[in-house]
Amino acid sequence: MDKYLVFGNPIKQSRSPNIHRAFADSTNQLIEYDRQLSQVDQFENDVKAFFAQGGKGANVTAPFKEQALLLSDKLTDRAKLAEAVNTLSYIDGKIYGDNTDGIGLVQDLLRHNVVLKSSNILILGAGGAAKGVILPILEQEPVRVVIANRTVSKAEKICHQFDSFSDKKLHACGFDNLQDGRFDIIINATSASLSGQFPAIPSSNITDSTVCYDMVYGATLTPFLQWAEQQGAAKVIDGLGMLVGQAAESFNIWRKVNPDVESVLKTLRAEMS
Ligand code: ATR
Repeated sequence: MDKYLVFGNPIKQSRSPNIHRAFADSTNQLIEYDRQLSQVDQFENDVKAFFAQGGKGANVTAPFKEQALLLSDKLTDRAKLAEAVNTLSYIDGKIYGDNTDGIGLVQDLLRHNVVLKSSNILILGAGGAAKGVILPILEQEPVRVVIANRTVSKAEKICHQFDSFSDKKLHACGFDNLQDGRFDIIINATSASLSGQFPAIPSSNITDSTVCYDMVYGATLTPFLQWAEQQGAAKVIDGLGMLVGQAAESFNIWRKVNPDVESVLKTLRAEMS
């Protein structure tokens, strides 16, 4: 049976094994999928040992996504630009690194019938989570993507890194410079929700046609989505669908089969409430 696993630290909380086992059941794929705790100074050895013992692929979560990038023999453009790898495949003695987070987000938005083409998008945050989604978003041909961050220099750095892919559609600013903005889609890629906070953007950024997305998810709406709802956003969506979407893309890379996202999402949502 082909073996897969997810590396992280901590790892107990990871839902990836449940998601991938459900995908495997529904697509009749015979695979094993486990979780493995690793350490920063052991990660590379652990990955190589897993592949040497016949492992076919691995997901990588915090804090190992940058290390996974460095140990990959080959990388996709989206992984290179994200500077992070969440999906490793082992084929003919070589490690292939990819990043499926961004496509997971895009597919979740599309599943919710959110139109990205020609839209005006605001991304909040300029850390790893933001960087990971920019290329797949640009590929949907929005008219403009603004990256706003508390530390403006980090947003400017990302704009510069994506220069040759962005067709001058990417702009950087601080939250204070958003006063006159109206956006079709606002994506919270900051980690503020994890500490019960949300980025201090002007309420005028949200209109009754704005869709607000938070990459974080939980049993209750995140602080950002609660606030967005109070400001009259058309729709608020949390990141559970992105989690399942990135897993579906990894599964497809490994097994060349598209699993059904909807049923797994329904089960996870029910387990959380
Ligand atoms: P991740 O990998 O989750 O993106 P990260 O690389 O540490 O984590 O980035 C965290 C992001 O959340 C950053 O953009 C950070 O802003 P700064 O670059 O100014 O630090 C943002 N962030 C965290 N807490 C925030 C808060 N309370 N308000 C606004 N932005 C916040």
